[in-house]
Amino acid sequence: MNGLVTYGSAYGSTQKYAQWIAEELSYDIKAAEEADGAMLARYDIIIHGGGLYAGGVKGIQVITKNYASIAHKPVILFTCGLADPEDQENVAHIEAGLAKVLSPEMQKHIKLFHFRGGIDYSRLGLVHRAMMAMLRKSMLRKGRDNLRQEDKLMLDTYGKKVDFTDRQMIAPLIEYVKQIG
Ligand SMILES: Cc1cc2nc3c(=O)[nH]c(=O)nc-3n(C[C@H](O)[C@H](O)[C@H](O)COP(=O)(O)O)c2cc1C
Repeated sequence: MNGLVTYGSAYGSTQKYAQWIAEELSYDIKAAEEADGAMLARYDIIIHGGGLYAGGVKGIQVITKNYASIAHKPVILFTCGLADPEDQENVAHIEAGLAKVLSPEMQKHIKLFHFRGGIDYSRLGLVHRAMMAMLRKSMLRKGRDNLRQEDKLMLDTYGKKVDFTDRQMIAPLIEYVKQIG
């Protein structure tokens, strides 16, 4: 099987996971904005990874817009966010967000994986910086005791640099691809 890994990444964490996966499987890799339906149609298996931004998955349109041309082949989606995907509450939150943009058919067909990225406030663009400042204010207003673990982590890492990327996290995805191949 030949496969394509696409990614939507603003600061490189998701791109790093996409590169590790492409390397491990000897698949091609493309930024989501450079991929289109005709390109996707040439591959047997499609993997898209997107950074989590306020619950949205960056670049997921490459899957949703071109779904007709990939619906009959294996499609894998991985997310990359600051929140810890070992925590099932965080995963439920991510998947609730996905349910807003994926049709029931897509949800049934697409295999999901969740990886952990990081954040470096010194590299954030103006819009992202403003979003995080607003989010922080609303979290502080709620009070720490009323926050989910994910939101506490956001407060604790605010203004800092943290990197939880880990090549070992891709192992279950690689295993899954090898099984269906
Ligand atoms: C404005 C903004 C919103 C974010 N929203 C989320 C989120 O909803 N859930 C999450 O787990 N991480 C969130 N993050 C953290 C990013 O997902 C994390 O930095 C990730 O590693 C980004 O991947 P990238 O470098 O490939 O873009 C957010 C970061 C920013 C700057």
